[in-house]
Amino acid sequence: MADLPSDNRDSFSSKFGVIAAAAGSAVGLGNIWKFPYIAGIYGGAAFLFVYLGFILAIGIPVMLSELIIGRSSQSNAFGAFKVLAPGTPWRYIGILGVSAAFLILSFYGVVAGWSLQYILLSVQDGFSNKSPEEIATLFSTLTESPVRPVVLQLIFMVLTGAIVIVGIKKGIEKYTKILMPLLVIILLFLCVKSVSLEGAKAGLEFLFKPDFSKLTGDGVLSALGHAFFTLSLGMGTLITYGSYVKRDNNLLSTVINVTVADTLIAIMAGVAIFPAVFAFNIAPAQGPGLIFITLPNVFHQMPGGFIFSILFFILLTVAALTSSISILEVVVAYFKEEFKLGRRFATVLATILISILGVLCSLSMGVLSPFTFMGLNIFDLMDWISANLLLPIGGMFIAIFIGWVYGRKKVHKEMSFGGNLSGALLSVFMFLVKFIAPIAIAIVLLNKVGLLKFS
Ligand code: PFF
Repeated sequence: MADLPSDNRDSFSSKFGVIAAAAGSAVGLGNIWKFPYIAGIYGGAAFLFVYLGFILAIGIPVMLSELIIGRSSQSNAFGAFKVLAPGTPWRYIGILGVSAAFLILSFYGVVAGWSLQYILLSVQDGFSNKSPEEIATLFSTLTESPVRPVVLQLIFMVLTGAIVIVGIKKGIEKYTKILMPLLVIILLFLCVKSVSLEGAKAGLEFLFKPDFSKLTGDGVLSALGHAFFTLSLGMGTLITYGSYVKRDNNLLSTVINVTVADTLIAIMAGVAIFPAVFAFNIAPAQGPGLIFITLPNVFHQMPGGFIFSILFFILLTVAALTSSISILEVVVAYFKEEFKLGRRFATVLATILISILGVLCSLSMGVLSPFTFMGLNIFDLMDWISANLLLPIGGMFIAIFIGWVYGRKKVHKEMSFGGNLSGALLSVFMFLVKFIAPIAIAIVLLNKVGLLKFS
């Protein structure tokens, strides 16, 4: 029988479990694949500073808002607004989130499929004795091929579905608790290795010395979009996960732990990559291929690189998996609770529908590349619409909802379960969600669509 939103709900079993799952969602391809290449395009450090500003002023309050909405409603991203603001159009924010989940997972699965291929290549020692050009060709041949990346993407989607079908406690929680620390250890090693390469200094300067002349309006929009993407915000992932969090959990400390972990891992990925990029004379603005071209170059020149390349791509895939599970869960929880489907059927249905869009994304790198919209192929379009439009818009309304509809009193009550939010902190939080987050997001979006011009 289909379960109702508030009964038979699965939940996380421990505080660490909540942090591991939420950090597992946050830390993913966004940190290791996307952050370094977007920072590369928009001038490194200048981008990093704007991005950190958005994380602090907008990311943290919106993450807290999502968890409050989820835990207090005990419902999926759409149902949550029905519970908290019955009979109002707020529920459509949930629909926006579910749509964003579709778009994001469709291209996310493609990149995770590439990562699977790179595990295979690493095992076959496929990077040794290859020139940087040959390593670059390896990547373009893979992404443009019509079969292999599609198959790998489907394998990844089946893996994602297989975990989601089991539920929250038994799948995600146990898994993330072990694998996330391992990811950090490998990344640390790579950072040390990369920094000790000859010519590494230029890479560190690129990452930490700001040159604001490279930061365009597009760069600011990307920094905002990426702040949402990397923290898994704006589409109800943390509303959904929040609905599985018990009342004794201190939400603020969860948010701080997750944000710090996510930010540190993104910066570490930058430190692992840019010194190597400069040491091997690869252009930092290389785009999405950066990690699949640069790191293999590092691996095949370092002692023990064979083992480390295997471990790195396994962990990249795992980081992707702990995020993709959280994206799929948004859709599954919605199908399950709103259409009264069983978890099993909801998971299979969501996985199939998203995979169909995913196949189109994959093919858009090769045979479907002539089909473009605004100059973007399907893959880039899914990425651009979701990160730059849907997530910020979703985040803006989530902040407005908590600031203006849900209100200070209820926030105070929800936050006093399992913790305490002092009066001053509560005021800062309310100020951020009522004014700063919505206004800043609106300015960046209006600037983007040309209704407001700063530069
Ligand atoms: N935060 C994930 C990453 O950085 O890879 C991606 C992601 C997960 C985005 C969940 C959005 C989301 F709801």
